[in-house]
Amino acid sequence: MKITFVPVFLCVLCFHSCVITALNNRPIIGVVAQEMYNRPNYSYIAASYVKFVEGSGARVVPVLINQDDEYYEYIVKHVNGILLPGGGTYFNVTGGFADAGVKLYQLALEMNKKGDYFPIWGTCLGFELLTYAAADRVEHRLRCEHYNEAVPLDFLEDATTSRMFGNISWDLMKILMNEDVTANFHHFCLTKKNMTELGLAEDWRFMTFNHDKNDLEYISTLEHKHYPFYGVQFHPEKNNYEWKEGKNHPHNANGVRTSQYFANFFVNEARKNHHEFPSEEEEKKYLIYNHPAINTSKQSFFMQIYVFEQ
Ligand SMILES: *[C@@H]1O[C@H](CO)[C@@H](O)[C@H](O)[C@H]1NC(C)=O
Ligand SMILES: *[C@@H]1O[C@H](CO)[C@@H](O)[C@H](O)[C@H]1NC(C)=O
Ligand SMILES: *[C@@H]1O[C@H](CO)[C@@H](O)[C@H](O)[C@H]1NC(C)=O
Ligand SMILES: *[C@@H]1O[C@H](CO)[C@@H](O)[C@H](O)[C@H]1NC(C)=O
Ligand SMILES: *[C@@H]1O[C@H](CO)[C@@H](O)[C@H](O)[C@H]1NC(C)=O
Repeated sequence: MKITFVPVFLCVLCFHSCVITALNNRPIIGVVAQEMYNRPNYSYIAASYVKFVEGSGARVVPVLINQDDEYYEYIVKHVNGILLPGGGTYFNVTGGFADAGVKLYQLALEMNKKGDYFPIWGTCLGFELLTYAAADRVEHRLRCEHYNEAVPLDFLEDATTSRMFGNISWDLMKILMNEDVTANFHHFCLTKKNMTELGLAEDWRFMTFNHDKNDLEYISTLEHKHYPFYGVQFHPEKNNYEWKEGKNHPHNANGVRTSQYFANFFVNEARKNHHEFPSEEEEKKYLIYNHPAINTSKQSFFMQIYVFEQ
C-alpha cells in the first residue's frame, strides 16, 4: 500500500518545487539608451523607465548604442529582458537607438526560436521600433497627433485571451476601459491597415485601439503571437515617475495601478528565463548603479536622466 502512495507524494513535491524554481526572482532588464540630439557622442536613458521595472522587482543594466555585435550578444545572453523606451529620434541615425534596437530584436527572435523565453517591451517610440524591426526596417508609421492626452483604451472583445491582458482583474480592466489613465505623447501611429499590408498582422496581435485628434484609429497595444514581445503606444512609466508641469500624467491612484500592472506583467515575463552574468563581479560592472541619475527637471520633460558617453 505504501509503495503506491510514496511515489505519488514525491511527484506532487517535485511538481511543486519545479514550479517554484522555474521562476527567476533576480531578473535584470536591459534598458536601451538613445542618442541626445543636442549632444553628439552622448546618449541617455530617462530614469522613469528604470524606476518602472525596479518598482516590480527588477534591476537594470543600461544598454549602450553604437556598440559592436559582440556587445549586444553579450547583453542578451546575460539579462532577462529588454526595454525599448520612448523618446524622440529618427530610425535612420547611424549607430543610434534604432540600430541597437533592431540588433537586439534579431538576437531575441533567434533565442526565442530556439526555445528560450526572452521578452522585449517597447513603449511609444520603442513600440514603433518593435514592429519596424519586425518589418526588417521598413518604415510604416503614419504621422498623427496624440500629444499630451490621457485617455482610456478601446479593447477588442477577445483582448483577455492575449498574454498581456490574460490575467487582468475585471476591476483594473474597467479602469483601463473607462478612465483617462494612459498618457499619450506621440506624433506617429501604427494602423491595422499598414500592419496588414506589410504582412505583420500574421505574427502580431492587436488588443486595443485609440483615436488621435483627427479621429485616426491606431493600435495602442500589441503582442507577438508566438514570442514574448510586447508594445504599448502610451507611457505607463509617466503615471508614477514623471512630474513635468503642464503634462497630462495620470497620477491618480487608478492611473498608478494600471502602470504597475504593465510593469508587473513585463517583469514577470522576464522571470521566466535564467540568464545571468557569469559572476557577481561582472554583474556589478554592468548595473545602472554605477551611474548617477541627473536632475533635469528644468531643462527637459524628464525629472531625471542617466547620461552615457558613447
Ligand atoms: C564624436 O566622435 C567621433 C568619433 O570618435 C569624433 O570624430 C567626433 O569629433 C566626435 N564629435 C564630437 C562633437 O565630439
Ligand atoms: C532621416 O529621416 C528624416 C525623416 O524622414 C529625414 O528628415 C532625415 O534627412 C534622414 N536622415 C538621414 C541621415 O537620412
Ligand atoms: C497568469 O497567471 C498564471 C497563474 O498565476 C501564471 O502561471 C501565468 O504565467 C500568468 N500569465 C502571464 C502571461 O503572466
Ligand atoms: C501606411 O498607410 C498609409 C495611409 O493609408 C499609406 O499612405 C502608406 O503607404 C502605408 N505604408 C505602408 C508601408 O503600408
Ligand atoms: C534640479 O535642477 C534645477 C535647475 O536645473 C533646480 O532649480 C532644482 O532645485 C533642482 N532640484 C533638485 C531636487 O535638486
